[in-house]
Amino acid sequence: MTILCEPAALAGQLSPALGGDVRAAETLGEASRLLASDPLESLVVIGSAVGLDEALAFTAGLRVERPSAGVVLLRDVLDVAVLTRALRAGVREVVARDDLAALVDACTRSRALSSQVTGVPLPRADEGRNGQVLTVFAAKGGCGKTTLAVNLAASLAAGGERSVCLVDLDLSFGDVGICLRAEPVRTIVHGLGMVGHVDAAGASSLLTACRPGLSALLAPVEPGDAERIPAALVGELLEVLPRMFDFVVVDTPSAFSEHVLAAMDASHHHVLLTTPDVPALKNLRVTLDMLDLLSYAHDIRSVVLNRSDAKVGLSMDDIDRVVRSDIRAHVPSSRDVPISVNKGNPIVLDLPRHPVSEAVSRFAREHVLAEPVAAARPSKRWFR
Ligand SMILES: Nc1ncnc2c1ncn2[C@@H]1O[C@H](COP(=O)(O)OP(=O)(O)OP(=O)(O)O)[C@@H](O)[C@H]1O
Ligand SMILES: [Mg+2]
Repeated sequence: MTILCEPAALAGQLSPALGGDVRAAETLGEASRLLASDPLESLVVIGSAVGLDEALAFTAGLRVERPSAGVVLLRDVLDVAVLTRALRAGVREVVARDDLAALVDACTRSRALSSQVTGVPLPRADEGRNGQVLTVFAAKGGCGKTTLAVNLAASLAAGGERSVCLVDLDLSFGDVGICLRAEPVRTIVHGLGMVGHVDAAGASSLLTACRPGLSALLAPVEPGDAERIPAALVGELLEVLPRMFDFVVVDTPSAFSEHVLAAMDASHHHVLLTTPDVPALKNLRVTLDMLDLLSYAHDIRSVVLNRSDAKVGLSMDDIDRVVRSDIRAHVPSSRDVPISVNKGNPIVLDLPRHPVSEAVSRFAREHVLAEPVAAARPSKRWFR
């Protein structure tokens, strides 16, 4: 069903193009009432007779109140300024008023996106599993932690064969939601009231279903919320989630925060990422020394070299000399990676035969699925 906000005289021309059930609203106030009366409504088409400011304010409000619903905006003239403002407000597509074919396509895409946001079932909050926790970490920013975490999680989920929860611990700048095109309706912030008594039902209420087999615990969206999340909440969640999922993959910020240490403590695998450049390698060396100092077992570590084919003047010998441990995956560099991020679809799902996808899937197969896990040894508390 679609809500069309356009004066009645003009609505008649557009309704047939929208197909199915169309409910007309003369004003945005009326559109809001129609939306409120139908929790499953997922599309509002705002006609060109509605002022731009009013349409954008409505869209911005809808993005918070009903993120699964999309807005398609019709304008008499499309220009860059209108497009920029519209996209910033959260309009899914802007279409020329007289381009009915483009309108039909935009509505189809928006409905498909809405059904992806709402249509994937969350796993049942049972607690019978004994899942593994993997923390993906690099002390230098921009190494590809989020890229690897998202693709590793999608690869492990294998289209629903296994259940995987991806936890975004980059609490201030997390972009797991963007990478998976998942609306952050529920985030870890909603777990604040559960500290001290997180259970499977509570944890489940914080999750967003993203793809078959793949759920995510998303990072806060409001500035300042990150500081409100205690590390204890992370520790509790990472005790409960492995009982609900086969795998819990944790994406991290590039700092040894209390939250990251809580994840390291709960982890069966530490996946440490670097790129072939001196600052990233130096930070990896510091990270490895720090993990030694904290008495984490060596055999739960996997070093992954991202952008491994970048020609930056360092030989593999140079890299091995710094890393001093097995590099378990070489992920090549490819512009298809940022393209997949912009599409909101992990490259392992978008292009499963791509060399980047093959490298991530091979790592999952050979070093996560195939190897028996040892429990992580807790770090020394004095360090904290
Ligand atoms: N193998 C790759 N080939 C090409 N681009 C890549 C590759 N891996 C990551 N990128 C790109 O590099 C940028 C940084 O990657 P990503 O966000 O995954 O890093 P990060 O370590 O999570 O960064 P941050 O520390 O900011 O959280 C992104 O634009 C991503 O698309
Ligand atoms: Mg990141």
